[in-house]
Amino acid sequence: MINSKKDDNVILTGFRVGESYFGGFSQYAKVDSNFLVKMPKDLDNKKSMMLGTAGFTALLCSFAVKAKEELLLGTKVKDVLVTGATGGVGSVAIMVLSKMGYDVHAVTGKKDKTDYLKDLGAKNIIDRKEFEGESKLLEKGIWDGVVDTVGGPALTKIFAQTKPGGIVAACGNAGGNKINTTVMPFIIRGVKLWGIDSSGSSLKRREFVWGQAAKLVDFTKVHGFTKELSFNELLETYPKLIKGEFSGRAILNTNK
Ligand SMILES: NC(=O)c1ccc[n+]([C@@H]2O[C@H](COP(=O)([O-])OP(=O)(O)OC[C@H]3O[C@@H](n4cnc5c(N)ncnc54)[C@H](OP(=O)(O)O)[C@@H]3O)[C@@H](O)[C@H]2O)c1
Repeated sequence: MINSKKDDNVILTGFRVGESYFGGFSQYAKVDSNFLVKMPKDLDNKKSMMLGTAGFTALLCSFAVKAKEELLLGTKVKDVLVTGATGGVGSVAIMVLSKMGYDVHAVTGKKDKTDYLKDLGAKNIIDRKEFEGESKLLEKGIWDGVVDTVGGPALTKIFAQTKPGGIVAACGNAGGNKINTTVMPFIIRGVKLWGIDSSGSSLKRREFVWGQAAKLVDFTKVHGFTKELSFNELLETYPKLIKGEFSGRAILNTNK
């Protein structure tokens, strides 16, 4: 743990806690101190967990897209596509990318969520169906950057539609694991695939990203799309998550 001491508030996401290590939902937990990030002054327990791994991942993806301008000394990012837009990662990514000043194009399968996505900062809403089916080797280049949470055929099409030098931050597989692409987007347009593994992020990266969260996230809005659930309600929620019927974020209230 960097820069923390006894009684400090801390954040723990990833590092396989809740997967390989049990106790992710416990009120008291003994964990490896190297997993802990000191809570930035402008965050608190509830804010950080409303974001959780999904919000942290959305921030990592957004900074990957922004890297086109700074790290890679590329042209200004303008149009950014976000898939799985109503999900936890997608919703936070829309807020962060629009706060960064980009025009966000949100891909969703939920027609009734247009107002929600626009309120988060999406400029344009695209039906998920447009990212299904076969893609050409290269299509018209539209996106300067992409935050992709769904993978599969959508990601294949995304590569074909990314502008020269564009960065695709791929973090999820809600729509499938397989991609059927060619080398063309990468060698003709210099498209960059930036894989995101939030769980294995270094502590330095975690400190940087959590330190930026309060500047880039509107927590009143996050509160608006976060449900507070009991243990029993979690059990009813998991099947909805798997069927893609859940939107927004959920936090566990262990006292509910
Ligand atoms: N790499 C990492 O570090 C990391 C970290 C966190 C999450 N993830 C992954 O990122 C993905 C998104 O996570 P999340 O927390 O945002 O999940 P989520 O809240 O369940 O949202 C996923 C969204 O994907 C869309 N979707 C669902 N089924 C789909 C399908 N068959 N085809 C296309 N789109 C579909 C839906 O949005 P619409 O209805 O709006 O289209 C859904 O709301 C998951 O695959 C998760 O495992 C990865």
